[in-house]
Amino acid sequence: MESSLRILSVVGARPNFMKVAPIHRAFQRMEFARVRKGASTLAVEHLIVHTGQHYDAAMSDAFFADLEMPEPAYFLGVGSGSHAEQTAKVMMGFEKVCLEATPAMVLVVGDVNSTIAATLTATKLGIPVAHVEAGLRSFDRTMPEELNRLATDALCDYAFVTEESGMQHLKRENFPQERCFFVGNTMIDSLHFALPKARQSSVLADIGVEAGKYVLATLHRPSNVDDPAQLRALAEIFADISREYAIVFPVHPRTRKQLQEFGVQELLAAHSNIHCIEPQGYVNFLALMMQARLVMTDSGGVQEETTALGVPCLTLRTTTERPITCELGTNVLVRPEAASIRAAVQTALFDTSRNNASKQASVPPLWDGRAAERIASLIVEILEKT
Ligand code: UD1
Ligand code: UDP
Repeated sequence: MESSLRILSVVGARPNFMKVAPIHRAFQRMEFARVRKGASTLAVEHLIVHTGQHYDAAMSDAFFADLEMPEPAYFLGVGSGSHAEQTAKVMMGFEKVCLEATPAMVLVVGDVNSTIAATLTATKLGIPVAHVEAGLRSFDRTMPEELNRLATDALCDYAFVTEESGMQHLKRENFPQERCFFVGNTMIDSLHFALPKARQSSVLADIGVEAGKYVLATLHRPSNVDDPAQLRALAEIFADISREYAIVFPVHPRTRKQLQEFGVQELLAAHSNIHCIEPQGYVNFLALMMQARLVMTDSGGVQEETTALGVPCLTLRTTTERPITCELGTNVLVRPEAASIRAAVQTALFDTSRNNASKQASVPPLWDGRAAERIASLIVEILEKT
């Protein structure tokens, strides 16, 4: 019987699925499915571990279907909780999985609590860890994600990097350069994969909006949605925009809870041109992004996808860990204060001479749909050498 080398990829929260799906597909391909070790050849067995950080069907199951991912081999069922609680539960569950599965390598993606928890667990067991989307920095330590990124990169053994800024940060932090690889963006691999299906989507008609005549909005950062005054101010801006453009607002569960708790839901519900909908599956969300007049967001991944699609994006944050989307892409950072947002919306929607739609945007280097193949090929090389 042929022996195998196991690789475990950890997913937990919504943005993890798009980053891992193409890596799984790459390992299914023949050329990445074998590792030569001396005279013998070992089969690569790539398995997915789902921590359960996100668990609503619309935040998890939907992506397995849309991205054609197999069922996770392990499910930790961690759920929501405080940062310490959630991180600790992932560590406890993942330690058992690592001891049982004895992986040759663990892959973590992005910057969520599941990412740092799995990294800490695996490195303490002496298992090599590769971080996909390493090196990004917002330099804002009030963001939990920034702490997760710093800690993950301080511990991991291999860094796969999406944009030049990540390479520079890792160099400055003395990450060993021979273990740091500029590979492109697996999230954009998923975008390429799903585009044909997104073109067939009926989601615009289902909602009742027309291409180019709506603004797509997503919000979930604590800085925007956990402060009642801030959330109300954003809802008032949506209400104003909705006099001219429909707003399509797939509401993240964290945001839904806060809208209800702060009594802001009624404000949105009073405007028939604001469509507050459930979080969308990946294919429908992609269809909504592609055909939006403008995207307003505080998401990390959406900044990258709008850049890849050439769709104008206003990011309602003071910093971004993805500066390439502003330098080369369609993204514009907007200080999340009412006056700044109103001015940016005015420019983007109504001032055609200066808006970011007319910006000569281009797709960043290596965001070509083949990042996962590069990662799989490098991992096979690494496993053959070590
Ligand atoms: C998490 C990540 C964030 C990422 C986001 C993507 C951390 C620290 N945060 O934020 O980086 O951008 O996911 O969406 O890892 N909830 C549900 N159902 C779910 C999931 C969450 O109802 O399936 C609700 C719960 O009330 C929960 C809250 O949302 O307490 C927040 O969930 P959590 O995973 O802690 O953080 P996110 O805000 O989703
Ligand atoms: N997304 C989705 N449905 C939605 C909102 C977002 O499929 O209703 C996708 C989006 O296209 C991107 C990812 O979710 O691929 C981004 O996740 P999120 O904004 O939750 O997290 P972040 O990137 O900010 O960490």
